[in-house]
Amino acid sequence: MEIIIKENGQVASEAAARIVVRLVKEKPNAVIGLATGSTPLMLYREMIRLHKEEGLDFSQVTTFNLDEYIGLPPEHEQSYRRFMNENLFKHINIKMENTHVPDGMAEDVPASCAAYEQAIIDAGGIDLQVLGIGSDGHVGFNEPTSSFASRTRIKTLTRETVADNARFFDDDESMVPHHCVTMGIGTIMDARMNIMLAFGERKADAIADTVEGPIASIMPASILQYHPAAKLFIDEAAASKLKLASYYRWVYDGKPKWQKDA
Ligand code: PGA
Repeated sequence: MEIIIKENGQVASEAAARIVVRLVKEKPNAVIGLATGSTPLMLYREMIRLHKEEGLDFSQVTTFNLDEYIGLPPEHEQSYRRFMNENLFKHINIKMENTHVPDGMAEDVPASCAAYEQAIIDAGGIDLQVLGIGSDGHVGFNEPTSSFASRTRIKTLTRETVADNARFFDDDESMVPHHCVTMGIGTIMDARMNIMLAFGERKADAIADTVEGPIASIMPASILQYHPAAKLFIDEAAASKLKLASYYRWVYDGKPKWQKDA
């Protein structure tokens, strides 16, 4: 795992955006996995800026989002489809038909999950997956003790995640769906590269356990230690509990620019 510690989330997001730029320039029809939540917003704003000001071209890009709440229609204010449309897709030149978010309203959930997995395969697999991390260590909505071999499926959120996400539902936990469809950890591990973003003190324990703890399903993100190309872009607060933080800084500072953006 490569740990990139920046002074704040904005600078970390700009560094992560350079990875996206390089990929899209090298492979205009790249397949990108996307995440929701507050964490990737700065990355998405930077991608929009790069499109508007520097002409970054998303016209051939395909995207697959990690997850969606069960029971929220796409037009619901808190659905992840709506989140993606509002915070990214509407502002870049991506073709809407090339954007995919799991279907939270599917009548046959297992069939719709299998179709999602197949669509990823048909698109050639995910080149770059963007990840956040829950305060409980979840990736996508793969909560603690999720199987490392899991594929896209229905999951039940933890109480902690429901409480964390109540802020998007007028602070009313009873409004937060308890079920979701999420790519599995196996799906995420198949991505050719994973980039995880984490900002703020609230993520410090999960980041320390992910990077320096044992690989265990109680901390789902720890599986990234097994991924051949995983990069973590974090701010000082999220890095505050890492034992080897000064080593990670030293490694990154010593890299040539071409390698930093690769
Ligand atoms: P957040 O959520 O970005 O809103 O903190 C991250 C996550 O739950 O994966």
